[in-house]
Amino acid sequence: MTRLVITGGTIIDQRGERRGDVAVEDGRIVEVGVDTTAALTGDRTLDATGCIVSPGFVDLHVHLREPGKEEAETIETGSRAAALGGFTAVVAMPNTDPAQDSVAVVEFVRQQGERAGLCEVLPSGCITVGRNGDHLAPYGELSAAGVHLFTDDGNGVQDAQLMRRALEYAKPLGIVLAQHCEVSSLTKGAVMHEGSCCSRLGLPGWPALAEELMLFRDIELVRLTGVPMHFLHLSTARSVELVRQAKAEGLPVTAEATPHHFTLTDEMLESYDAVYKVNPPLRTSDDIAALKAGLADGTIDAIATDHAPHAPHTKEAPLDQAPPGMLGLETALALAVTELDLPMQRVLALLSWNPAAIAGVADRHGRPLEAGEPANLCVFDPTAEWTVVPANLASKSRNTPYAGRTLRGKVRHTVFAGDAVVEGGVALR
Ligand code: DOR
Repeated sequence: MTRLVITGGTIIDQRGERRGDVAVEDGRIVEVGVDTTAALTGDRTLDATGCIVSPGFVDLHVHLREPGKEEAETIETGSRAAALGGFTAVVAMPNTDPAQDSVAVVEFVRQQGERAGLCEVLPSGCITVGRNGDHLAPYGELSAAGVHLFTDDGNGVQDAQLMRRALEYAKPLGIVLAQHCEVSSLTKGAVMHEGSCCSRLGLPGWPALAEELMLFRDIELVRLTGVPMHFLHLSTARSVELVRQAKAEGLPVTAEATPHHFTLTDEMLESYDAVYKVNPPLRTSDDIAALKAGLADGTIDAIATDHAPHAPHTKEAPLDQAPPGMLGLETALALAVTELDLPMQRVLALLSWNPAAIAGVADRHGRPLEAGEPANLCVFDPTAEWTVVPANLASKSRNTPYAGRTLRGKVRHTVFAGDAVVEGGVALR
């Protein structure tokens, strides 16, 4: 049995911060040498000098495009991007073709993830059959197949009665429904945030209200049913406030924000470059300030990437025809470190143990670094600077809005199920 040791790093997890080496055998942490002068030894050493050693990250929101759009991403290329980003588990969104509304499709996604062996791929299930918003998906069967998070992401569930029923059916199963908040009648043809910038550019706008109205409705449905809900990619200041109030009232709601929504504004669209088209759209600097405040005070539970690869030719289309979405897995940590003025433990709560709990995998991801715990770990240098070069990304697509940007914070090693899957910033599988 190989003994892997991670030496010379600083451990940060939910228990706090300490200097320590970590030894891993057979998928588990077997020893943590805290503040010892003698380094732990093993058959294989991962150098963590100058690095933070933390639980691996969990992304609640990725589009892996398989089945259906393998020209943009496959489960293998997407999970390689995830591992390079420090993620040991990702929730695969269900807007595949066919959609993830049957046991056959979710099993296929899970198995492709196992075959790639780079991180745990957790298939989500649809809230409605085919994400069409008409009939509830078979939650019982999907839940029995291990699906925990259900969403029609890409679409919001428009029908309030259907959403109420979805929550009522979810209740006994203990599954979590995750809403993409968008009242579609308010966003038809929209390509960017509705505000002064879109008026100036003459482009059709996506009003903040389209998100806030559905969020408000669903918070009230949570109040009515008592069933927990998760809210995907919050983008507006008012959304943050609605979630803050709901939490203050004790309602069981959780929320995520994406790196692009807390780092980029609608003014990027002045370039008319579709790489900045995303749904919900980039908003204003006031919205960014509100998202950052929500990430700091616990209103927002998790950073999720909404990694949305698109084949290059599709993003070269005019703005109104190009698909929304941008890459996120390989830049998330660096954007959080560079752009959020937060203590590292809070950043790690947002990237690791909070989303692990929402995804229902807190038994194996986002665990404290202690003997006996599953070895899903990330080792990253919080001071390393690097420049985003699209051609160097592991994703099959190139649609990052950060090309040419120099960021701080780089993953050095990722350990998944006890094995190094990234070493020295290079994927081993
Ligand atoms: O920008 C987005 N892209 N938002 C979504 O909700 C869906 C996603 C995609 O699938 O490309």
